[in-house]
Amino acid sequence: MTTTDNTGATSTTTTTAPAPRTDIRFPSGFLWGSATAAYQIEGAAREDGRTPSIWDTFSHTPGKVANGDTGDVAVDHYHRWRDDVRLMADLGLTAYRFSVAWPRVQPTGRGPAVQRGLDFYRGLVDELLAHGIKPMVTLYHWDLPQELEGAGGWPERDTAYRFAEYAALVGEALGDRVESWVTLNEPWCSAFLGYGSGVHAPGRTDPAAALRAAHHLNLGHGLATQALRATLPARAGIGISLNPSVVRALTDAPDDLDARRRIDALANRVFTGPLLQGAYPADLIADTARVTDWSFVQDGDTASIHHPLDFLGLNYYTPAVVSGPRGVQDGPRLDGHGASAHSPWPGSDDVVFHHAPGERTAMNWPVDPTGLTDLLLDYTAQAPGVPLYVTENGAAYEDTVDAQGQVHDPERIRYLHAHLAAVHEAVRQGADVRGYFLWSLLDNFEWAYGYGKRFGAVYVDYATQARIPKSSAAWYSQVARTGGLPSAG
Ligand code: FCB
Repeated sequence: MTTTDNTGATSTTTTTAPAPRTDIRFPSGFLWGSATAAYQIEGAAREDGRTPSIWDTFSHTPGKVANGDTGDVAVDHYHRWRDDVRLMADLGLTAYRFSVAWPRVQPTGRGPAVQRGLDFYRGLVDELLAHGIKPMVTLYHWDLPQELEGAGGWPERDTAYRFAEYAALVGEALGDRVESWVTLNEPWCSAFLGYGSGVHAPGRTDPAAALRAAHHLNLGHGLATQALRATLPARAGIGISLNPSVVRALTDAPDDLDARRRIDALANRVFTGPLLQGAYPADLIADTARVTDWSFVQDGDTASIHHPLDFLGLNYYTPAVVSGPRGVQDGPRLDGHGASAHSPWPGSDDVVFHHAPGERTAMNWPVDPTGLTDLLLDYTAQAPGVPLYVTENGAAYEDTVDAQGQVHDPERIRYLHAHLAAVHEAVRQGADVRGYFLWSLLDNFEWAYGYGKRFGAVYVDYATQARIPKSSAAWYSQVARTGGLPSAG
């Protein structure tokens, strides 16, 4: 197949989906879920005491989000949540990962909780449980109360303390009915896209601030974990969702291998160092010495971050292929969720990202399920004994409604089939993977891309808010009900 990417370049592609197998069955009790995030679906931005988050401010700033889209209405989940839970139940899903909007629960980022905010999530959780769907709550999926950004945001140490306080409020309110807790979603994006490349809220482009933010997100995770442990019943599990970069070197040349090491440090080990080892990697500190002296890491911080995790959530979409600073960037920047003149890689902004050959999604992300097997096996080795969840995986395609009112998305079915086969392969090789959360249940607000990129298993007509399950939803439903992959992928 020959395709054109958005630089106008053509490339010859081959499909990467493995031949469908008929013998792929997942362990019993494996959770079949979908995932969403508050700002991407809820809407009701000014209702019931909710105040602006950094994403409200950012999306309302001209030029920041494609088409001027905002999450003001999104897919109106705040009002349609009962229908959305019914959709999941109809599909036979057994788990649902959603996030709590901090500015709905604690509008200024300080002080007591707003009961109406908590009531919304209590109602949602009760409805899920009534339908046999296990809730997994993410406390922070990028919607920092604007007031805290005004006080300095994640580059300020105090934000970590504020986050722990907020975590405790939600823990107190939902701890009797929610067993799975994710502190942060993809802290790499919060730190390096939010404060480095500026393609995400709050849109700052300060490499030193990005590294400070990364540390305070780590600290926030650690402090929130302690606060939740003090609040939640013993059966509750606490984890974090990372989006590790599966980084591959373009060649075995020393400068390409060094580029791989550098990006691995900035994308992955800046989090797993303190989380899993209790220290920041020495090479990361050396690589970023021109940017910061890391004096914001205080005595005892890494010990506060280094707590046993009950599980680790891994989000995977596509691997990264990097080389040393020779040649030219191959096409648009492939190192973040959007284009920016500013790099999200402090101290390593000369590393070049390359397009892997092969099929791509509508995000222009190469389809490569082998990266998911590699990732799960890598974390099995790095975090022995810690159960893993794929807390996000999925793909955007140019979905349209046909004359019969249906949405056929065979590419997404192929993508999901191949990636679930990749999860299974990791399980077969010993990874303790307990569940899979498809990103996403519904088409939604895809951050800097606005509503232009559709990731849902369920199509949303944004004019009417009608929900139309795509053919991939029927396919995934069959997977969830049978616990295995159908032979006709
Ligand atoms: C992840 C985000 C999620 C969604 C997917 C496509 O990085 O966590 O909200 O945007 O990418």
